[in-house]
Amino acid sequence: MCGIVGYIGNKEALPVLLEGLKDLEYRGYDSAGVAVLHDGKIERIREVGKVEMLAKKIKNKTKEVRLPYKGVLGIAHTRWATHGGVSEKNAHPHTAGAGKLALVHNGIIENYRELKEKLNESLESETDTEILAKWIFKNYQNVGRGDLFQAVRSALLSVRGTYGLVVIHADHPGELVAARMGSPLVIGLGDSEYYLASDITPILPYTKKVSFLEDGEVAKISREGFEVFNLKDEEISKSVIKIDWDVEKAQKGGFENFMLKEIFDQPTVFEDAIRGRMDIGGGTGKLGGLNMSLEEMRQVKRIILIACGTASHACMCAKYAFEKLSGLPIDVDVSSEFRYREPIVDRHTLVFAVSQSGETIDTVMALREAKKRGAVARGIVNVVGSTIAREAGAGTYIHAGPELAVASTKAFTNMVAVLLLYALEFGRLHGVDLETGQKILEEFLKIPAKMNRILKNSNDIKTIAEKYKNNSDFLFIGRGINYPVALEGSLKLKEISYIHSEAYPAGEMKHGAIALLSSDFPVFAIMTKNELYEKIKSNVEEVRARKSKVIIIATEGDAEAKELCDDVIYVPKTMELLEPLLNTIPLQLFAYHTAVALGRDVDRPRNLAKSVTVE
Ligand code: M6R
Repeated sequence: MCGIVGYIGNKEALPVLLEGLKDLEYRGYDSAGVAVLHDGKIERIREVGKVEMLAKKIKNKTKEVRLPYKGVLGIAHTRWATHGGVSEKNAHPHTAGAGKLALVHNGIIENYRELKEKLNESLESETDTEILAKWIFKNYQNVGRGDLFQAVRSALLSVRGTYGLVVIHADHPGELVAARMGSPLVIGLGDSEYYLASDITPILPYTKKVSFLEDGEVAKISREGFEVFNLKDEEISKSVIKIDWDVEKAQKGGFENFMLKEIFDQPTVFEDAIRGRMDIGGGTGKLGGLNMSLEEMRQVKRIILIACGTASHACMCAKYAFEKLSGLPIDVDVSSEFRYREPIVDRHTLVFAVSQSGETIDTVMALREAKKRGAVARGIVNVVGSTIAREAGAGTYIHAGPELAVASTKAFTNMVAVLLLYALEFGRLHGVDLETGQKILEEFLKIPAKMNRILKNSNDIKTIAEKYKNNSDFLFIGRGINYPVALEGSLKLKEISYIHSEAYPAGEMKHGAIALLSSDFPVFAIMTKNELYEKIKSNVEEVRARKSKVIIIATEGDAEAKELCDDVIYVPKTMELLEPLLNTIPLQLFAYHTAVALGRDVDRPRNLAKSVTVE
């Protein structure tokens, strides 16, 4: 996830900016850059790789070309690539007006193509951000001549998408302009100096007094103070608050650790995953990454999803959607198995390699195997520019942002989201009608609010976790699309709490696993109201008859579920195909609270690595 730092004051900006970028490193990035206003000119420098490499480059340049990079006003950025690959020319700050204006930006400009056409200018990079810089500069010339703030405000009236941005202009040495829509920005208040950042970490060493920008707000910041307006140019009165977090707590967004933060990130990053990727009118997904014509899509006769761990559970959830909507044969293969079999694929087989890191060696090798055998290969990946993203040639980023806890959470939901949109795209080609397509998309839009409702129950789930924390075994059961949810709940619990747990398709339990059950072997049942509700209810009865304690995930309003179990966790109703997006969250929270109650190192569980690059 990109990071922003800005400074205006009386001290040299460069050290503040570089230190600030280092404080933002935890967010993950692939390149960095700064722009400082000095002597009426903007000096910009960018580098691929670590902030340290940027600092080294600045040191060398200072000697070589005698650019001092001095100045008391500047902006800086760490980039996590979305539009355009990882390269120096794609790194921020981007400039316009022959270097007169410089801009850093977090977020995605959805209508960048439309703006590009209106601009009709040559571009240095492949980014939506450069177009935004040029668009603001055009507004500076036409509308807001001489007024940087008005230029930014008026330019944003025709911008669609998300942004947290900061702009400087060579002719405005006393001014920073910042704006927010969907991507956080915070102003730090010093003594005749102001700091700006995408989160409070870079600001904390200098001041504890901050003011958060809200969506649709534009700020005009000088050494004398700051004023905030909405896009209609009406002044907004802002409150200043005192933050007493330390830097570590700030990086975790105030949460105790990264895993909890990432669980709570889900409603927001889910929106990032679907934004601009739905054609509501056409009742279908709109994922450019497939890079196939409709005719080529029709030629696909079979789909294989290859992945490991949590990613493979996301694929299993998607299998139900692909089958139901597209009617195409679809297999999910654990990567380490796929590559050592004789998988039957040909040019009519579409293989998706699904991975958070994009570096999991089993999935990389399986992808190579699929390509060697002639399949059409695509990647579904979180980390931009990773091996799978590069080798797949085409594909889709899940936009979950950096996932730092070893246990994968938000990547799971975003993988499911992207895969469901693909399933819908293929479904619409194979007979799903417009109305059904639109219904699915409408329900998609309701998911973030429903996720938030579940997250509000975190403390109740904590109470349940504390009650069961001393059990040494667990069984998770689910049917249909909730079977992979059970698998994911079981994996989360075992990897971070080290409690033994298994997951079974509920109907399969009586063929063996039921022998394990007794009063000290609790069972987690995912029993939401769907087509298989009555079936799983019978399985829960079977469990109760063996005296096991039962925890049920049930649909809000299902009073019967409460009668059947020892503890119930309610989730909002959604369409069956979308259930994993909600039903997994209580299981993540249950695993998390259990691990915390047992004193485990939640973010770095023993024996595990975030990115598994060995076979
Ligand atoms: O980076 P990937 O998505 O390819 O990683 C796959 C698995 O290694 C990963 O999901 C692993 O199972 C996690 N520890 C699960 O929480």
